[in-house]
Amino acid sequence: MNIKIAPSILTADFSNLTDLTKKLEKGGVDALHLDIMDGNFVPNLTFGPLVVSSLRQITAIPFDVHLMVERPERFLSAFAKAGANSLTVHAEACPHLHRVVQVIKEMGLRVGVALNPATPLNILDYVLPDLDLVLIMTVNPGWGGQKFIQEMCRKITELRELIIESGSGADLQVDGGINSTTLKDAVTSGANSLVIGSALLKESDLVAGVDNYRDAAGKNLAESWWSRAIKGC
Ligand code: DX5
Ligand code: ZN
Repeated sequence: MNIKIAPSILTADFSNLTDLTKKLEKGGVDALHLDIMDGNFVPNLTFGPLVVSSLRQITAIPFDVHLMVERPERFLSAFAKAGANSLTVHAEACPHLHRVVQVIKEMGLRVGVALNPATPLNILDYVLPDLDLVLIMTVNPGWGGQKFIQEMCRKITELRELIIESGSGADLQVDGGINSTTLKDAVTSGANSLVIGSALLKESDLVAGVDNYRDAAGKNLAESWWSRAIKGC
């Protein structure tokens, strides 16, 4: 298993997304994490399918679209048409979560469910077998550049145990406050997919930055309890 690196462009210079995207592509990132905010589910607003569609014209990197949007079912097909490869909805924003998950699967896209820091894991009880990705928010969603919530390590480990026990193939993604220090906590706790925003975008050499994060993640994975547990299966 390799750790996946999915940079978030949330804190980028939006007048120069082409240059950034090309550099990330050169760095060989696994996905581009696109944060969609509706000013309702979260207090902030970002961008919608039109921007995703424009980015789709300039890169083949898979798009990992994180919908911080109330009733995201209204926008699924628009993001699918815009070029999303994976759609992640928040459990807290979907009273009919099971149905939304099925709709995304039927579109042929990878399907993810995100959980805010205070949302317990048992909300996944009846949908986990259908998921390609579970996103554990390690900050409260809304802005880039926030501090990693250390208490989420226990949640990441509990979810990793659940994924191993159930035989689920879902990625365990973490999002918020990942830097060279918190990466170690996230990976050793059980994460195999890292959204990295401001910490990576601050690097003067993005390609080298992606490489360094990937190396560090690989080293921590090799030493982690859960990679040994998977190999022992
Ligand atoms: C937060 C977003 C994240 C975040 C990542 O609401 O979902 O993707 O901005 O950025 P950093 O790594 O700066 O926390
Ligand atoms: Zn995100």
